[in-house]
Amino acid sequence: MNIMNVDYSTKIPNNVNLSEDRQVLKALEGWHPGYIDWWNDMGPDGFQQSLVYLRTAYSVDPRGWAKFDYVKMPDYRWGILLAPQEENRTIPFGENFGQPAWQEVPGEHRATLRRLIVIQGDTEPASVEQQRHLGKTAPSLYDLRNLFQVNVEEGRHLWAMVYLLQKYFGRDGREEADELLRRRSGDADSPRMLGAFNESTPDWLSFFMFTYFTDRDGKMQLHSLAQSGFDPLSRTCRFMLTEEAHHMFVGETGISRVVQRTCEAMKAAGISDPADVAKVRALGVIDLPTIQKKLNLHYSLSLDLFGSEVSTNAANAFNAGIKGRYKETAIDDDHRLQNATYPVLKLIDGKIKRVDEPALTALNMRLRDDYSQDCVKGLLRWNKIIALAGYDTRLELPNVAFHRQIGEFKDVHATPDGVLIDDATWNKRKGEWLPSTDDGDFIASLMTPVTETGVYAPWISPPKVGIDNKPGDFEYVKIET
Ligand SMILES: [Fe+2]
Ligand SMILES: [Fe+2]
Repeated sequence: MNIMNVDYSTKIPNNVNLSEDRQVLKALEGWHPGYIDWWNDMGPDGFQQSLVYLRTAYSVDPRGWAKFDYVKMPDYRWGILLAPQEENRTIPFGENFGQPAWQEVPGEHRATLRRLIVIQGDTEPASVEQQRHLGKTAPSLYDLRNLFQVNVEEGRHLWAMVYLLQKYFGRDGREEADELLRRRSGDADSPRMLGAFNESTPDWLSFFMFTYFTDRDGKMQLHSLAQSGFDPLSRTCRFMLTEEAHHMFVGETGISRVVQRTCEAMKAAGISDPADVAKVRALGVIDLPTIQKKLNLHYSLSLDLFGSEVSTNAANAFNAGIKGRYKETAIDDDHRLQNATYPVLKLIDGKIKRVDEPALTALNMRLRDDYSQDCVKGLLRWNKIIALAGYDTRLELPNVAFHRQIGEFKDVHATPDGVLIDDATWNKRKGEWLPSTDDGDFIASLMTPVTETGVYAPWISPPKVGIDNKPGDFEYVKIET
């Protein structure tokens, strides 16, 4: 069988030769009905009988791997796709640097690997649950289709992690796979494992912020796991990254289009001060200060996903060869880091200071720094739109000490500029920096669905280009009525 192409003759499409791996095939087929139940209960609310113009992977060849067609979401072919095996791949970092990559789980790293796979796996269905109500208020068929594309692919990412659990972790792997279908985002008794995945995604601006900032955390985690010495995990993550890029594209262009529309409306109305919230809102578009607040919220929630700045877990996973750094193989150093240091922001005597820490324990901080740098690209684009419209204001990433629940700054309050403030000041002023109930109500008031082909809600610009070279007025979803 050609590893590049996916076998669609079996119930579960795959390029891992499942038809000859009876035990794993049986386990996956046993898990499948529970997955479909989960999709029906917790996947997109409505539209399950609609024909959606979705891409499905038929290959893992980077030059051409997806085909587009109308599919009813429950009929989507969720499958197991691994990037091709690299011949003679070696472990690119840690104490086992240079040794052959593992094709089976090394006994001593079994627990760590399982935990990392379960945590990654848990985020995938969580975001589908968080986004399940958004279809009802989509600003266009184009956006509706993008939402569903993201949703079915997060479903596939769950499959990707479940395959690893069922193939390599025996009975406890199968139990973990079942647990992944049992937890629910935001549930009081059995929540998802990470904070940002238990928050709600109440409106489309949140959806765009989530796919820009939180899916990008996913990108960083997948990149680090793609370096793993455990080869099946590496190959799985490498292919997931191909799909993930589209999710962040949806976020980046979504926010661009909101900013674009707001600037156009302000200009047409002769508004010179973008901070005149009431005047801007009267135009039926989302004011820039509210966009900044949403950005502050989603960026800070996403920073929490990187964990504590200083972490022995991170050091152990690196030493073991399980989780590397972002673009590990492109970094020019010894890839062992035994004597290296890395600057970490810490709270010392009530001040934010940069302190050199052992690079091994500072790996979360390093990945978070790489993440922040990656986030900046979108801000440059959005600010260019604002500047081109002639407005002298800009969107900014808040300081890493702002609104944190995990790590060095969890017990203090800081402004978006990174000035430490007391509880009273925080409580008085947080509405200036984070979305208030009023802000949420205003955005909600704009969220009326648009289902006519080629028409876009008045608070968002049409896209510059369509999906799969189709025009913006293509019927991306044939809604079943
Ligand atoms: Fe994902
Ligand atoms: Fe994603």
